[in-house]
Amino acid sequence: MKAFFKGFGLTSLFALSVVKGNSSSSIIHSILQNARADNIDLTVLPFLNDSLDSIVETYANANNTSKRQGNGTIIDTHAHVVPDWYRAIQPTTGGNPTPSWDLTNWLSFLDTEGIGRAIFSFSAPSANVFPTNKTLTIALARLMNEHLHAISLAVPNQLQFYAHVPLPYADEAIVEAKYAVEKLGAVGFFLTSNFEDNYLGNEALRPFLAALDGMEKRQIVYVHPTTPVMKDFPYAPSFTQAGSLAAIQGSDLLSGDDKTKLFTTNAEGLFGETSAGGGPRRR
Ligand SMILES: *[C@@H]1O[C@H](CO)[C@@H](O)[C@H](O)[C@H]1NC(C)=O
Ligand SMILES: *[C@@H]1O[C@H](CO)[C@@H](O)[C@H](O)[C@H]1NC(C)=O
Ligand SMILES: *[C@@H]1O[C@H](CO)[C@@H](O)[C@H](O)[C@H]1NC(C)=O
Ligand SMILES: *[C@@H]1O[C@H](CO)[C@@H](O)[C@H](O)[C@H]1NC(C)=O
Ligand SMILES: *[C@@H]1O[C@H](CO)[C@@H](O)[C@H](O)[C@H]1NC(C)=O
Repeated sequence: MKAFFKGFGLTSLFALSVVKGNSSSSIIHSILQNARADNIDLTVLPFLNDSLDSIVETYANANNTSKRQGNGTIIDTHAHVVPDWYRAIQPTTGGNPTPSWDLTNWLSFLDTEGIGRAIFSFSAPSANVFPTNKTLTIALARLMNEHLHAISLAVPNQLQFYAHVPLPYADEAIVEAKYAVEKLGAVGFFLTSNFEDNYLGNEALRPFLAALDGMEKRQIVYVHPTTPVMKDFPYAPSFTQAGSLAAIQGSDLLSGDDKTKLFTTNAEGLFGETSAGGGPRRR
């Protein structure tokens, strides 16, 4: 664990210099400039100003959190932040309302639970809020990482983050991964179980995974569930079992008889016999 957290000292020096030395306009300028250098146009995002304001506010409030020490020895490796601007563009998560979140209450929660350190990220659907829109997905991933970076700098003794990447666009995800690790100090990557129907074993994602393997330091990948893509169903269920069952129940594509089979017997009755003659076919 000691090695894992060795980046903290350096990061916290940077945090203080950002807060004391940089005006809000230079923070914004540098975020936009770094994006442009990687060929990312953040101005395509209609909510850009709200999110930049929120990032600047995170830096401005770092004065009361920069020396904070955790209360407890637990390390939470699965924690999510939800800045208001992200909840506004993604009002539901996994079929439920996206929860509200703020840094002050979250830090109190960590204290009362005895969580001294947390590795955090946004939640599903990660940067895939605008499916099929490559430009928006790439810009959103960058903006999300800038905000995670700001939060981790604001609470340097307690917080580190997993970066988001704009998969399924592998080339751009590689660019983002490098920036997140080398410039923002991400300690790993938040990958959802599928990226717009490209599950993690998909050919389209391989160049990205190969690039992670090729990075100088060993990279941590955190795999998180997201809504499955069930193309045959008229609407996407939540990733909870209850949501999937509700989708089956409400589907017009299955007969009542099929639904009964699916709920009460085995998959073979519905999907046919397996070639190996064993249990139900795994799909
Ligand atoms: C965002 O802020 C910039 C700079 O202040 C301004 O030029 C632009 O019009 C704003 N965009 C929106 C959508 O409010
Ligand atoms: C931290 O800075 C902000 C913005 O300058 C200020 O409003 C706030 O009172 C400061 N908080 C503390 C605890 O010093
Ligand atoms: C920091 O202090 C400001 C003003 O004193 C307060 O509004 C804000 O909630 C505090 N932030 C955290 C994370 O404690
Ligand atoms: C610190 O953690 C302990 C043990 O988890 C808890 O009982 C206590 O209330 C916490 N203190 C604060 C200030 O939250
Ligand atoms: C992506 O979204 C932008 C902004 O809404 C829009 O201008 C553009 O046409 C979209 N691109 C595609 C491929 O849908």
